[in-house]
Order: sequence, then C-alpha cells, then structure tokens
Amino acid sequence: MDYFEINGRKSLHGEVKISGAKNAVLPLMAAAILNNKKLQILNVPFLSDSATMAKLLESMGAKVHFDPNNSITVDSSSLDNPFASYDLVKTMRASFYVLGPLIAKFGYAKVSLPGGCAWGPRPVDFHLEALKALGVDIKIENGYVIATAKKITGNTIHFPKISVGATGNVVMTAIFAKGVTTLTNAAAEPEIQQLCNMLNSMGAKIDGIGSNTLTITGVQSLNSIDSISVIPDRIEAGTFMIATAAVGGKVKIKNIIPEHLDSVSNCLKKAQVQVDIGADFIIIESDGSNIAPTDMETNEYPGFPTDLQAQWMMLMCLAKGVSTIKENIYYDRFTHIMELNRLNCDIKLENSIARIQGNQNLVGADVMSTDIRASAALIIAALCAKGKTTISRIYHIDRGYDKIEEKLSILGAEIIRRK
Ligand code: EPZ
Repeated sequence: MDYFEINGRKSLHGEVKISGAKNAVLPLMAAAILNNKKLQILNVPFLSDSATMAKLLESMGAKVHFDPNNSITVDSSSLDNPFASYDLVKTMRASFYVLGPLIAKFGYAKVSLPGGCAWGPRPVDFHLEALKALGVDIKIENGYVIATAKKITGNTIHFPKISVGATGNVVMTAIFAKGVTTLTNAAAEPEIQQLCNMLNSMGAKIDGIGSNTLTITGVQSLNSIDSISVIPDRIEAGTFMIATAAVGGKVKIKNIIPEHLDSVSNCLKKAQVQVDIGADFIIIESDGSNIAPTDMETNEYPGFPTDLQAQWMMLMCLAKGVSTIKENIYYDRFTHIMELNRLNCDIKLENSIARIQGNQNLVGADVMSTDIRASAALIIAALCAKGKTTISRIYHIDRGYDKIEEKLSILGAEIIRRK
C-alpha cells in the first residue's frame, strides 16, 4: 500500500489552484439520475470518490464518461436497475445520495445501508424518516433499504439536526412530488446550494436556497442543461490555508470562493495569522511561530467546518498556549488525536472537548491515516515536524484530495509517495 514520506520544516511559497469540491460533485452526479438526459460536469476533482460514484451509476446501467480536462458526462437514459450494492456503498457513504433520485424516478429503489466510519456510526435515520413523510414505504432487509412509492406527496419535514446528506437526498426525492415540500433545519452548505441551483436550472422549483428552510414545489420533469461547473473545494482550500499558517511561508490559494471560508479566515486572524482576501483567492503569510492560542468549535455552515477540525487542531499544537476544540457535528471525531500525539503533540480529550497544549516541537515518526481529513492533519504535522515522517494508509487522502503531494511539492514541501 502507498505511503507518504515527508521531511519536515520546509516553508511553503507560491500559488496553489484549488480543485472542484468532492462534496459538491457527488450529489451532482447522483442528481443526473433524475432525468434521461446527458449531464456534463466540469471542474471535477480527480478523486477515488468521484470514480466510486461513477462505478455505482454504471452498475445501475448509466453511462459515465470521463472526458479530458477534468470533466465527466453522465447519461442516465440507460439506467434501468435502481439497485446500489453493498460492495460499492460500503466504500463511500455518499453513495446513499442515489436513494432520493432513484425513488423519485422509478418509485422503487434498493440501496445498501452505508457502513460507519473511522469515528463511529453515521446513521441515516433522518433520510428515511423524511422519505416516509413523503409517502415512501421503507423496509430494511439484509442491510438494504427497500424503498417503494406509488406516489410521492409533498409534506413539511423538520430535520432534528442539520444534515447535508439528508437535505440533498430529500430535495431530490421531492423534486417530482405532488404538491409542496418544506424542509426546516435544512443544510445551507455551499455544496447543497449548488445542487439546488443546478436542479432549478433544469426546471425544478426550489426556494430558500442558502437558508435553513427549503421549499420544493413538485414539477413533472426536468430538462437538460449544457453543463455545470463544480464549485471550488472549500475544505481543500482551508487545508492549504492552515498548512501555510502552520509550516510558515506565503501562499496564494487560488480559484476559490472566499466567503465559503469566512469562518476559517476569521479563526486564522484570531490566531494572529496574516490573511489577505481577494476576489477569488486568499493569501496566507506566516512565519510558523507566534500562533495565538484560539478556541474553536465546529458548526454547520457558515460555522467552522468539521472537515477542517483535525487540521485546525494540528495548528493549535504550535500555538503559544492552551486552546480547546469543541466538535458539535460528530461528537467522537477525534481519532486523529492519538496519531498527532505520536508526533509529540500534547492533546487531551475531556468530555468531548479537545484540550491542546501548544508550543510543541513536533518530531517525525511513523503514523497512520484514519480518515480523509485526519490524513490531511497528519500531513501538515509532518511538514512541521523535525526529521522524517511516514504516513501509511494514504488511500484515505486519495479519496478527498486531488494530487495533494504534487501541489505541496510545487510549494516547496518535501513529500514523496512511496509504494
Ligand atoms: C457530509 O456528510 C460530508 N460528506 C462530510 O464530509 C461532512 O463531514 C458532513 O457532511 C458534515 O458537514 C459529503 O458531503 C459527501 P451529515 P453527511 O448528514 O451528509 C448526523 C469529508 O471528509 N446524522 O451532515 O454524511 C450525523 O451523524 C466528509 O468530506 C444523523 O444522526 O453528514 C452527524 O452527527 C466526512 N442521522 C450530523 O448528523 C442522519 O440520518 C451531520 O451529518 C444523518 C446525519
């Protein structure tokens, strides 16, 4: 299995172009199920997750063509098998996004329940309760959701907790519903906003995009659009922002939507890091020292993203004092603490709040990735550590970062992928 070998303490300088967002392209690909038309998706990140979603769509009969220059074309006109197998769904939770479009289009779907992940169970009860409220009959048999609906009828649904996946799935279920569906406590993440905007450009009627209340008025069908370009990946961008702050140097993070990162920019400014915000870029300048300890808690958008929590934790290991992190999205998303402490960090978990003793001199070691974003934190730590670090199980990182070692090497990091 591939692993990274990193020699630390090389500051980062130059520019990095951010790829399309993993968490945007996956629901867009699933939404292509909804009409029997071709959908061209541009600015697709080169990730194993995009490939997994393509494989899943093809397993159901769709045609997916990866074009050159990061674009794909999904043609669902030949999709005739609304069945998502455990083999594919178990490798990527976002596969569950196909449930909504399949039930909306076919009135039937058999989709494997997703597995858990490194940091614990990831239920889908919000998805299933909402589908039932729309008139979908849900049975669970042998680890599969069997969903049938003679007719999908609009309803008012309140999500107990804001859920990105459940919001996307239910919006797609309600697209052709009879009547109006109102979703309260819905997700407003940019990736969900793009999904809803794309559906509206195809003729759907979704109001409240960007707020936590969405109203979907059912339509008969959707028309085709020429193409859709995936929004920039705010999590990749935030990872490079935090990496530059931690390792030191000056980096222009380009091709982004800066306001998607306001919570991260604000926290970095509180940590006394220099942040210059442009129209479609952010410049981070830091000498890698004088980081001010900064308490942070994760929240749904526009709050600080949980997907940057591990990376932020790593930065706080360098701060001049004690910081805390409260994880409000996944109470147990802390598997990276053990691995960071192997690099001489000093992080303790007390009642689901991480307490980080800063001012640490990180020292290289052998560590192991546990999930996509923990891997990113370990890479940043390795870039800051004295000596050599090896990071194993980097298939995690390949799920969510497009050519990260190339991008970091161009900025001056010493990172090599070894077989
Ligand atoms: C999406 O996952 C992202 N994945 C995650 O990014 C991200 O961490 C998460 O949203 C939160 O922002 C994709 O978009 C593909 P949720 P999702 O439903 O939709 C609970 C990454 O690294 N919940 O918003 O699965 C859930 O346990 C990944 O790119 C239920 O209890 O997350 C969590 O506590 C990791 N029941 C909270 O809600 C449900 O039915 C938010 O989860 C659904 C969710």
